[in-house]
Parts: sequence; C-alpha cells; structure tokens
Amino acid sequence: SKAGYDHFMIKEIYEQPEATRNTLERRLDANGEIKLDDINITKEQLDKINKIYIVACGTAYNAGLVGKHAVERFLKVPVVTDIASEFRYSDPFVDENTLVILASQSGETADTLSVLREAKAKGATVLSIANVVGSSIARESDYTLYTWAGPEIAVASTKAYTTQIVAFIMIALDFGLKKGTITKEEYMNYIAELKEIPDQVAEVLKCEDQIKEISKQLVDKNDIFYLGRGLDYSTAMEGALKIKEISYTHAEAFAAGELKHGTIALIEEGVPVIVLATQQRLFEKMLSNMQEVKARGANVISITEVTNKEVEKSSDSVIYIPEVDNILAGILSVIPLQLLAYYVAKERGCDIDKPRNLAKSVTVE
Ligand code: M6R
Repeated sequence: SKAGYDHFMIKEIYEQPEATRNTLERRLDANGEIKLDDINITKEQLDKINKIYIVACGTAYNAGLVGKHAVERFLKVPVVTDIASEFRYSDPFVDENTLVILASQSGETADTLSVLREAKAKGATVLSIANVVGSSIARESDYTLYTWAGPEIAVASTKAYTTQIVAFIMIALDFGLKKGTITKEEYMNYIAELKEIPDQVAEVLKCEDQIKEISKQLVDKNDIFYLGRGLDYSTAMEGALKIKEISYTHAEAFAAGELKHGTIALIEEGVPVIVLATQQRLFEKMLSNMQEVKARGANVISITEVTNKEVEKSSDSVIYIPEVDNILAGILSVIPLQLLAYYVAKERGCDIDKPRNLAKSVTVE
C-alpha cells in the first residue's frame, strides 16, 4: 500500500533513511565491522584480481558509476563501469582474474543476466548487488549482496539506487581491508561516517518544500541540463534519467569540463541548469562553470555542501546538503534530484508510478 502517500515513488523516496540503514546495519557485527553475509572471498582470490568490471542498466548503471569511485579508492584496482547491453556485445577482456560486479534491483534484467552467464563461462568471479531475494541474477552469481531496500514498486528507481551505493562502499571497504589496501583505522573511520548517512538522508529530505517551489519554475521548460564533474557527473546522469522517465522533460547531464567543447551553445536565457558541486577537489572548477552558464542567462540551481556558501553569488537557488566525504555526497545529493523529478512530473500531471512505455523490470532485450 502507499501508506498515505500519493504515489509509490514518493513513499520510496521517504523510505531511504530506513533502507540505507538496513543495508548497512544488518551487516555490522558486534565490533562494528562489516560482515558481508556469505561473501567469503579470500585475500588470495582478491590478490589475483587485476581487473574489475561493474555492469548494469539504467539507474543501477548510474549507481555503478559511483561504485567505481568506491572500489578504486579502497581496493586500488582499475574499474570500468559499463552498460550491460553495450558490454555484452563488446568482446570484453574477461578471464579468471576478472571480477564482474553486477547491480540490479529486480535481479531479472535480461542484458545484465546475459553478462552474468557470459562472465561465468569465461571463468570470472561474479558478484551481484540485488534487491529481490531469490531473483535470477542473485541465484546465479558466485556471490550476492542484497540491498535490503524492501520492495520497490514505482518504475522510477530511488531507494534501490541509494542502497546500491551503500552496498558498493561496503564491498569496497571489506575487500580493501582484506587485501590490505586500506588500514583498519581508515576502515573504522569510514564506517563511522557511513553510519551517519541514514540520518543525513532524513535531513536532506527536509528540502521538499524548497524543491516544490523550484519545480514550478521547471514545469514548462523543454530542456533541463545537469552539470557535474567526477562523481557529481554520475549523480547528474541519475538526476537527468529520473526527470526524463517520469516527467517526459528532455534532460541531459554534461561533464562540466565539456561545456566549452560544444554544449555551452545550448545555454540561453532562462534555461534551467542544475549544478552539482559536492566534490572538494573540483569545487573551484565547478564554481567557474556555474559562473559561465549564469553569465549566459541560465537559471542556476545548485546543490552543494552547507559550507560552500560562495555558490550563492552565481546561483538562483541553492540546495544544501551536510558536509560529508566525497563518495558519500552522492547518496545525499541525489535526494533533491529525485524530489525534483517527482514534483515536476506531478505538476505536469504525469502517471508517476507507471510512466508511459516503461516496465519495472526489463526481462527482454
Ligand atoms: O532491475 P534493474 O535494477 O536491473 O533495472 C535496471 C533499469 O531497468 C532500471 O534502473 C531503470 O533504469 C529504472 N526505471 C530507472 O528509474
């Protein structure tokens, strides 16, 4: 049931504090250390792995883009994230020393399932992050970590995405500690930060009224652009996908550094540009991109940490998130984007839980 909410989507958006808490805390033991269910992969196995592919579709792919940052940071192995329907026909370098991580809410997505079977046939180790217990992808993988997000009914994925990111981080931390690529101290400190996330998600959800107001400015727009660098670019892609699928508004995510290579030509008076600026190292760069689009008349809506008040000079609206680690910022900054997609779709009178032409799980190619 919708438990008093107008749509499953908004109910599921609001379930994210609990969903992220379940994904994490069910795997913390009495010492506060991560115990990844039955994933008993050994240090010897991890030492052999020289290549990691993260493969998925749609929102799960976008979560995998964030997952790459976590895995590379803690496991120090290069990661390629790819779309399942591309990967399966690309003749990838998969062998016994490859780890393939799949992410799928439903666990039934046809392209992702086919990547799983192919990877296993080539001797790779396959680990899946799935939400639906007992689904095909979960059953056929060598190892599965469930997200424990609870049933996701709305076609637009929300809590599956944020819990998948938590799952990627937990895998990266656990494997990194096992392999010795992070210290016990770094590991424990990071878990402490991760434990704050559910409450911080709840905190960010308080921006709902502000987002409702902003959504009124966007309801009649033909195009909306999302800008980011690094991990923020991945979040931008997820924000754009969300608003396309449920509000039928054309939206595109740009890597902010690419603006000058073509896309800035699209910026004109009144075009909404959502700017994500949560990555510390990239903040100054984002600030100048923000100024560039503002100077061309864009309606700049920025999302940044509460300490970055400088954005106000070049933004029409600012949505603040708490100050957190760069990877964790991706879990928080997507929340306003989910709400924005929801309220623009609502203003436009769209069928939010069942958008046209889409199915919840894509079991055919
Ligand atoms: O069940 P899966 O996670 O494998 O589904 C993948 C995509 O079909 C899914 O994320 C889709 O992109 C959502 N409708 C996006 O909101």
